[in-house]
Amino acid sequence: MDRITILFGTESGNAEMVADDLSAAMGQGGIDAPVVSMEDYSVDDLRSQDVIILVVSTYGEGDLPETAVPFFQALREDKPDLAGLRFAAFGLGDSTYDTYNLGVATLVSALTDLGATQIGETGHHDADSGLDASELAVTWVNDVLALTAPA
Ligand SMILES: Cc1cc2nc3c(=O)[nH]c(=O)nc-3n(C[C@H](O)[C@H](O)[C@H](O)COP(=O)(O)O)c2cc1C
Repeated sequence: MDRITILFGTESGNAEMVADDLSAAMGQGGIDAPVVSMEDYSVDDLRSQDVIILVVSTYGEGDLPETAVPFFQALREDKPDLAGLRFAAFGLGDSTYDTYNLGVATLVSALTDLGATQIGETGHHDADSGLDASELAVTWVNDVLALTAPA
């Protein structure tokens, strides 16, 4: 696996920062990991990908951030066949909300409903924990990448 696109959806920039830091860490491991906003990504392109990483926050009351909404709607409307796609997902949220990290769960369901296969467990950052989101995400992605390595 030498190229993995990282798609982010953010409202106030944290998910983009995490995506950039993941890309830098993966680059050090020899993986080319372009970072693209979900706003600028066509769901048609998902069918030509082998593995992608989603990084997305939750806003409002369990909603997707605004920059992820068109991507989500296009998945629901265009219904691309994603049987050939594997993905990993990392969510940013805050456990003081009842709707903790619902945004990433919404996207995971949308992709798996279209036939995509999730790699590993969804990663979660809790803004209330005081932990550094990028550090947590880099540890998480290393576990995920180990699952994509050939046996
Ligand atoms: C107005 C507002 C609403 C939020 N709603 C939720 C929510 O429903 N569930 C959740 O888990 N986190 C919620 N959060 C927390 C954000 O997801 C968290 O701060 C995250 O790090 C933001 O990432 P972003 O900058 O990439 O959008 C909310 C934050 C704000 C400011």
